[in-house]
Amino acid sequence: MRAPSALCCRFIFLENMVSYKQYQDRWLQQQAVYSPSELTILGYQVMQDWESQYMKRLAEIATSQGGYVLEVGFGLGISAGFVQASPAIHKHTVIEAHPEVVKFARTRFNQNIAAGKMEILNSFWEDATRDLPDASFDGILFDTCPLHQETVFFHYFPFFPEAYRLLRPNGIFTYFSDEPREISADHERLLRQAGFQQIDFEVVPVTPPADCRYWTHNTIVAPIIRK
Ligand SMILES: C[S@@+](CC[C@H](N)C(=O)[O-])C[C@H]1O[C@@H](n2cnc3c(N)ncnc32)[C@H](O)[C@@H]1O
Repeated sequence: MRAPSALCCRFIFLENMVSYKQYQDRWLQQQAVYSPSELTILGYQVMQDWESQYMKRLAEIATSQGGYVLEVGFGLGISAGFVQASPAIHKHTVIEAHPEVVKFARTRFNQNIAAGKMEILNSFWEDATRDLPDASFDGILFDTCPLHQETVFFHYFPFFPEAYRLLRPNGIFTYFSDEPREISADHERLLRQAGFQQIDFEVVPVTPPADCRYWTHNTIVAPIIRK
């Protein structure tokens, strides 16, 4: 899900919180329901296609150094399509947890996979990145979603130290920011704690439709974070 905005983005309750492993297991057991414009899992709007221009910008940032690009979270594959379209990249590694999303990805990008331009790891990033060496990527695009509504903080914060470890010096990191206008002070502090010192962003205009339950603003921040 993108977190429902009525629940104040991704700051929510601790009570009744079951273990993260249970949330992961439940996520994998649920059907991934694709329509032409949307992916839903567990009844949550995981991704909608109005984000295309924003995804294009994230992909441009992540591929701006060329080389090896890591993407976490496949969804509708919109950003993956833009990453693949970049002539500068050598290889695009995608980590995606949900097996039906992986099946969709492998069907859509079968030629890119056969040509060695893309590989898909069917795993949660929390398991998959352990096997990836330090400083092995030139760019990282992170766009997962909370697996439950009891998220205590922005769900991508735990990935920051891993992003720093996995990037080469001068490598670039971007992600779905969950911020409409700026990188907030707490957000920036966590980037700095992970090791990042070059923190920049752009504000991208968007037009979410009335049925979108996770975003009501007309802009989203595209982070531009350099190692
Ligand atoms: C918002 S969608 C990604 C949208 C994508 N950027 C696009 O352009 O369509 C989030 C995806 O992340 C996956 N996901 C959620 N948590 C994950 C995790 N911890 N590790 C790997 N994949 C995860 C979900 O199954 C879902 O397919």
